[in-house]
Amino acid sequence: MRAEGTEQELGRIIDGQAIARSIRDELAVEVAALAEGGIVPGLAVILVGDDPASAVYVASKERACREAGMHGVTIKLPAETTQQALLEHVHALNADPAIHGILVQMPLPRHIQSDAIIRAIDPRKDVDGFHPINVGKLLIGERDGFAPCTPAGVQELLARCGVETAGKECVIVGRSNIVGKPMMSLLVQDARWANATVTVCHRHTKDLAAHTRRADIVIAATGRPGLLTADMVKRGVVVIDVGINRVEDAAHAKGYRIVGDVDFESVRPVASWITPVPKGVGPMTIAMLMKNTVRAATLIAAARGETCSFAGRGIA
Ligand code: GUN
Repeated sequence: MRAEGTEQELGRIIDGQAIARSIRDELAVEVAALAEGGIVPGLAVILVGDDPASAVYVASKERACREAGMHGVTIKLPAETTQQALLEHVHALNADPAIHGILVQMPLPRHIQSDAIIRAIDPRKDVDGFHPINVGKLLIGERDGFAPCTPAGVQELLARCGVETAGKECVIVGRSNIVGKPMMSLLVQDARWANATVTVCHRHTKDLAAHTRRADIVIAATGRPGLLTADMVKRGVVVIDVGINRVEDAAHAKGYRIVGDVDFESVRPVASWITPVPKGVGPMTIAMLMKNTVRAATLIAAARGETCSFAGRGIA
């Protein structure tokens, strides 16, 4: 789609699935090289309870690891698991030399304090990037920690599509610890594919549209289906939709369909680039989780003196 009277191309879709596939293929090559040195990156995922959406994510994480030649373990625990029992699992994984990355799937049942679990994970194995040590490293621009997978995946998408971020107005809608805040930390850094002027909006923001309308890049991560509409963005905007929302739809076999936070049909014609849901940001989260796990394995092996290659956090 080419806009009349301007050279700017509009309506281009960012194919997150294809980009994630390239990253996974690149990682499979790295994993094979590590295997020659006797290192097999290992990821352990802990799932507490039987939330069906979480079970789907966890299964795809394990499958992706195996496919790349990595060691993947899933520990499924009943919803009644005590905080102490969960902590004991984390401690055992911290001490397990075959495991380089630990992920405890969120949300956890209400009787478990997530922050106590996150703090128990060895920061060197915290491939989710949720431990305060890694959160702090990301914020101050130290590149030897781990960035959370979803915002890291968004940055990678921007980089691989050649979307310049330096000097751009970037508006993030949503301030979660998993997406909004780390996204802000990544894009504000003095670094390649960063150097943006970042605004973080949330439910107390007075006039959301006034912010999104002046944005060159909008990143929506609110969990509110169809929140961002065409009248809220300027022509040529880059739109990244992090939302994964189930909406009832009798026309679908499952009785629901998955939509993002962006009204895709109305926004696409005015955006220069836009991610779809599904097949946009979602597949990138898993690819970045694998990337973090391979880095964790490399760093842990280097610390043990098993290999000398340095793996700083870096993108494309
Ligand atoms: N739940 C939703 N997204 C994530 C994620 O990136 N990591 C974990 N551990 N739980 C999640």
